Amino acid sequence: MLVNSVLLLTIVGTCTRGAKILGVVTSPSYSHQVVYQPIWKELSLRGHQVTTIVTDGINDPSLTNLTEIVIEESYGSLKRHNFLDLHADQGIMKMFAEIGYYFRDLYEVQFNDARVKKIINDPKSNFDLVIFEAIGAPFVYFAKFNCSVIAMTSMDAAFPYSQVMGNPGHPLVNPSYMLKIEDSEHFTFKEKLASITNYWVCIALSWFKFDAFFDEMNRQHFGNNIPPINELFKRIDMLFVVSNPIFQDNRAVNPNTITLGAGLHIKPPQPLPKDLKDFLDNSPVPVVYFSLGTNVKGNLLNQTTKAEFYKAFSELPYKFLVKVDWENLTIPKNVKVARWLPQQDVLRHANVKLFITQGGLQSLQEAVTNAIPMVGIPFFGDQFQNVQKIVKRGIAVKLHRHEISKETIKNAITKVLTDPTYKQKVEEMRDLMYDEPMTSLDKAIWWIEYVLRHKGAPLFKSNAANMPMYEYLMLDVIGAVLAFLIVLSVFIKLIYKSLKFILSRLIGGYFVKSKKKRD
Ligand SMILES: *[C@@H]1O[C@H](CO)[C@@H](O)[C@H](O)[C@H]1NC(C)=O
Ligand SMILES: *[C@@H]1O[C@H](CO)[C@@H](O)[C@H](O)[C@H]1NC(C)=O
Ligand SMILES: *[C@@H]1O[C@H](CO)[C@@H](O)[C@H](O)[C@H]1NC(C)=O
Ligand SMILES: *[C@@H]1O[C@H](CO)[C@@H](O)[C@H](O)[C@H]1NC(C)=O
Repeated sequence: MLVNSVLLLTIVGTCTRGAKILGVVTSPSYSHQVVYQPIWKELSLRGHQVTTIVTDGINDPSLTNLTEIVIEESYGSLKRHNFLDLHADQGIMKMFAEIGYYFRDLYEVQFNDARVKKIINDPKSNFDLVIFEAIGAPFVYFAKFNCSVIAMTSMDAAFPYSQVMGNPGHPLVNPSYMLKIEDSEHFTFKEKLASITNYWVCIALSWFKFDAFFDEMNRQHFGNNIPPINELFKRIDMLFVVSNPIFQDNRAVNPNTITLGAGLHIKPPQPLPKDLKDFLDNSPVPVVYFSLGTNVKGNLLNQTTKAEFYKAFSELPYKFLVKVDWENLTIPKNVKVARWLPQQDVLRHANVKLFITQGGLQSLQEAVTNAIPMVGIPFFGDQFQNVQKIVKRGIAVKLHRHEISKETIKNAITKVLTDPTYKQKVEEMRDLMYDEPMTSLDKAIWWIEYVLRHKGAPLFKSNAANMPMYEYLMLDVIGAVLAFLIVLSVFIKLIYKSLKFILSRLIGGYFVKSKKKRD
């Protein structure tokens, strides 16, 4: 009997044995990190041994199966190469270059960390699965471990990742999220041109420049045995994207691409700090919550513009809860300022009626989760297209960054708070967003364990994934047919000319005479 239970325990033990999982989220951005945190937590609670390399930790000592390597210095890379500021005003090429330098800087910071080096250089390091943030090409390095690989983003995937999964990309159906497109259902000619150019520039950059740049970095760090980036890319088994049709254009994807678009990062409610709770509980008027997220720093707005916000707020019959790092401005009586706020719990509060946001995807999901209509002020990246979408859904008003004045701010706020259709629409969107067969977290965990059970997901690979670009674009066949047609037409012309020549020699006189008669 005892022997039997021991045997049974061993069998159950092996079947449910936790996998060794390495998670790598390189972006020094809280809004990127929070999307993955519930996944790390849940995997560790399910008995997997999870090691993460991140920029912000969960810091929960009760998660005994989770080891976090938190590299806070990563934030320095973003400070040194702030491509976010560039995008807003100086064009996309300059931004691409700066992004390249930023990734190199980040890579140096993270790969020179002693704890990371230990994992990489220890020949005994082994994992069953690597989940890494699909953002910069160089971090695909972690696919070097002989194990399954999942790439994951906190937004839609950048072009090379879609391409490697064999997902079709069309610059007019799914333009890059970095482009400013006013309405992706009705492109202007200029936007079409920009999107098509961007598409080809991205392809050309990866062919001619970026891959080589990053391969060189990898070789410098890890010697010549490290496979080239395009080989490492092919090891990706699955791609997880944060995508939801409320905020983004629909995209055709293969079954190896999993969309987690319904509030994966939403946490259970936490009690608010006392002063904040008092401020919100005791407000007799609606409260407007203002935050431009973690990446839009105060230096992106000048002092005049910041002052316009406060002037507008002071003239409106509402209270304002404002998360900013602004200095040297007189704060009106109806405004409460904080450097940091528990955003999800603020938006949950019954007295909060409007959210003024930069339009980051996670913020939009939090607003819709709590049915809060918005005023969107996009600054960079995907924010332009995100805000365009929520305006289209009827749940927000857009405020152009360069048209901020006391009047425009007052108008936008008043419009959303006095017209009840914004609230109705956002309630509708909330119901649509959460009407799913399973939560995004369950979906993510289910597919991660699928990959663990089957050591990858080879059944779901598209033929497009391994096809060279010229084949995918049918250039070889088009070229061959064109060549054939050219040869054929030359041939026909030759025959025609020869026939004509022979005929003219045989009965030439006749043709010449009859032609002359007709003229
Ligand atoms: C850690 O993993 C073990 C299995 O390896 C599991 O029994 C235990 O519940 C997990 N503990 C926590 C706190 O997640
Ligand atoms: C990789 O792992 C597989 C089993 O999962 C094993 O058969 C193979 O030999 C390993 N390759 C290397 C290079 O370690
Ligand atoms: C605020 O004032 C201090 C002292 O006058 C000055 O050093 C600082 O640069 C000012 N900050 C801004 C954002 O203007
Ligand atoms: C401040 O920014 C606004 C909006 O971008 C601009 O219109 C204005 O000219 C700027 N003012 C100063 C003093 O730079």
